[in-house]
This record gives sequence, structure tokens and C-alpha cells, in this order.
Amino acid sequence: DLEGRVDTSDAWIVERTGIRERRVVTSGETTASLAIAAGAAAIKAAGITPDEVELLVVATCTADQQLPATSAAVQDGLGLSCGALDVDAACAGFVYALVTAAAMVETGRVGAALVIGAETLSRITDPDDRGTVVLFGDGAGACVLRPGRTGLLAFDLGCDGSLGGILEVPVGERYIRMEGSEVFRRAVRVVVASAYAALERGGLGPGDVDVFIPHQANARIVSAACDRLGIPRDRTVMNLDRYGNTSAASIPIALAEACEAGRLREGDVVLLSGFGAGMTWASALLRWEAA
Ligand code: COA
Repeated sequence: DLEGRVDTSDAWIVERTGIRERRVVTSGETTASLAIAAGAAAIKAAGITPDEVELLVVATCTADQQLPATSAAVQDGLGLSCGALDVDAACAGFVYALVTAAAMVETGRVGAALVIGAETLSRITDPDDRGTVVLFGDGAGACVLRPGRTGLLAFDLGCDGSLGGILEVPVGERYIRMEGSEVFRRAVRVVVASAYAALERGGLGPGDVDVFIPHQANARIVSAACDRLGIPRDRTVMNLDRYGNTSAASIPIALAEACEAGRLREGDVVLLSGFGAGMTWASALLRWEAA
């Protein structure tokens, strides 16, 4: 499809990005509808009922409307009766949302929290721009944090707003504008530094990581980050060949797939690390707690 629309080739895309397939919403599907499906699946997997959810945080940079927040429609769609908010930290958004929700749960003032990453990037991707159209896809993933067992050992959140121009949708424009190689270069650097910062705060090193789940942007970025961290590929979850870059949805989709595939065992040390527009970056070190 893409070869027929822009000057590219399947071979180039696979070699330079690692992406073979992406998912795109059909008419009628929205960021909220994807989030509701993922949220319902997470509630079911956690073995709780919707009324036990006391906080909803939706990470997205592709809100369906400017107002109200996407989380409002998700709260209604899931039949929740709790507070709901959106977090926008682009592709680092899920980890930002996870850390925000975990902090609230750990105060003991809210019970279970539902954290969802959901995006419809196809709506803001220029179909005629070969530099972005081959990368971005749509999707959603979610997890439930439970009181007394959020599993969060340590985290690192960062932002360098002076780099906003390298990946943005300017005011009044419809589509993403991206300086791809600049984002690439900086992404490797910040993801490695952020992962090290979280590990250090947790008193652990790369050798302690059982499962590494990096943001799924480009297979070469993931490989470079793994090499610099010294985390072997067999401990790294990669699914971007099937989804492309789904921004805030990429880490929770990979987390859910790893969980369903039995790759996460009770007590495993799991490192999540993302980066994105802003520029933002975020890492979370977890001790895996099964449902
Ligand atoms: N098909 C064929 N050629 C393409 C292409 C495509 N889809 N996209 C770019 N090119 C071309 C460029 O125009 C350039 O051509 P030129 O040498 O004639 O100018 C050439 O390929 C090399 O461009 P470059 O940008 O150096 O390629 P790259 O290897 O860095 O790959 C990206 C481009 C966009 C795939 C890569 O930079 C990337 O993944 N960057 C990070 C993007 C990202 O992760 N963004 C989201 C962050 S959350």
C-alpha cells in the first residue's frame, strides 16, 4: 500500500525500522473506543469489578476532542464512577501515567487505578510524508495497579522542552512534522540515560533486569539502547514489527503481550522505558506482581 502512495519500498521500511505491519482504526473507532476495549480487558485480567477502580488515567497525545478529555468518554464507556484524567507526555506518556497513578495508589487514598495508553496516530500522520507514514500506528494497552502492590520500585521522568520542534504538530496544522534522524540520535541517548537513572534509584543494574520493555519506535533504536545498556535481546520485548510506533500505547501493548505469553513471572524485575515528543522520557522499574 505504502509503495503505491509514497516513494518507499517494503525492503527499506523493514531494514530501516523493523516495522512490517501496523494497525489503523476504521471509521467509528476512536482513541476512546480503543482505550475502552483495552481497559475492559485489563479489569477482567485483574479479576476486579469496574466499581473497584478508584482512579482512571489515560495517556494519549491523540485525544478525540480538544474538550472534554478522552478519559471522560473512557470512564463512561467502562461504567466507572471514579475520577479520570488524561496525561500527555507523547510516547513517554504511559510511563508518566503509570508513575502518576502509582504515586496516588501508594498514598492509600485511592484503591485500584486503571492506567491506559491509547492512540489513533493515523489521524495526525500525513499519508504523503514517507518520513512518518511508515512509522506510526493505532492501538491501546492497559494495566491495573492495586493497593499495597503497585510493584513500582523506582522511576525517572524527564523533559527537555527546548527540543519541542523536532517532533510536533504545529498550531493550526493537522499532521506530525518530524526531524527523524535528530529524534533517532537523541532517543537512544535519553532512553539509555533514563533507564540507568531508574536502575540506580532502585539499587539495581542492567544485569538484574529480567524483562526490558522499551518504547517501540524503531528496531534500530531499541537495538542501540540494548547494546549500550548491556541488556540482551532475549530479555527485551519487541513487537513493533506488528504494530509500528503506537506512542503511549506501545509499552502497555508490549507489556500485555509479554504477560499473556507467560514471559512475566512473579517477582521479575521489569524495566519500562519510553521517549517522545517534548522531548520527554520516562523509565519505571517494577517488581512484577501477577493478578
Ligand atoms: N522510504 C525510503 N526512503 C526514506 C524513507 C522511506 N520511508 N524515509 C526517509 N527516507 C530517506 C530520506 O529521505 C533520506 O534520503 P536522502 O539520503 O536522499 O536524503 C534517506 O532515506 C536517509 O534518511 P535518514 O533520515 O537518515 O534515514 P534513517 O535511517 O534515519 O531512517 C527514520 C529514517 C525516520 C526511519 C529514522 O530516522 C527514525 O526512526 N527516527 C526516529 C523516529 C521516531 O522514532 N519518532 C518517534 C519518536 S517517539
